[in-house]
Amino acid sequence: MAPPAREKLVSGNWKMHHNHYEAIQFVQKLSAMLRASPVPPGRAVSLHPSLTSLRSVQTAVDSDGVPVALGAQTCHFEDRGAFTGEVSAGMLAKLGVRYVLAGHSERRAYAGETDEIVRAKVDAILRHEMTPILCVGETLPEREAGDATAKVVRQLEAALGGRDGSVVGRVVIAYEPIWAIGTGQVASSDDAEDMAACVRGTVRRLVGAEAARAVRVQYGGSVTADNAGEVMSCDNVDGVLVGGASLDPEAFSAIIHSGG
Ligand code: 13P
Repeated sequence: MAPPAREKLVSGNWKMHHNHYEAIQFVQKLSAMLRASPVPPGRAVSLHPSLTSLRSVQTAVDSDGVPVALGAQTCHFEDRGAFTGEVSAGMLAKLGVRYVLAGHSERRAYAGETDEIVRAKVDAILRHEMTPILCVGETLPEREAGDATAKVVRQLEAALGGRDGSVVGRVVIAYEPIWAIGTGQVASSDDAEDMAACVRGTVRRLVGAEAARAVRVQYGGSVTADNAGEVMSCDNVDGVLVGGASLDPEAFSAIIHSGG
């Protein structure tokens, strides 16, 4: 019997955009669009607003019954303590957050997140029964030096090695080549498929075949309505993590429906 098809996850990472008024307007517009044209079967959607907009988005989504899961962009790895300015995974879970990004390249670059910190964040997100979206990806010099695969494998080993396969099967892994983020230079679907297959193969080697079949692998980096359908049609790509194009409800709705 063929294994069940993996659900495609379309995630909008708003980064540091949209205050809570703008966030509510976005949800109201997206809600109307998804009523007129529902999320295609086999697809799920998550929205990752800034921390100050989380509560507003949660209320707007719940009151309108919008078929969108609440996501966050980061969290601290400790459950509580003297960590001024931080937010714990438990606090996010209490707000109804379902997905949390861990190790986005911008946080690795600007907030000093090491592989060890990213692993501890994945621990915290799982501990609070949310789904980590673990972000991995190489820089342009690393790709040009032929080191793309080695970089991604190292990030996966650091975050997922030694874990139980049934736990890793629930994780989402976003392959986001850093040279493609915010540049308009999307990876070719061949490159996206090769790297997504590498991610899945690494999960198989680290924790086993069952987790490798179950784990969802997203592609991220300059995804738009024009290229999302093609990248999501790749065998090993189970969705997209969208930055800039997720800020506009029409563009995001088009991505949700692309190729579907
Ligand atoms: P862009 O879609 O703006 O390139 O950003 C991708 C990204 O970093 C999503 O997490």
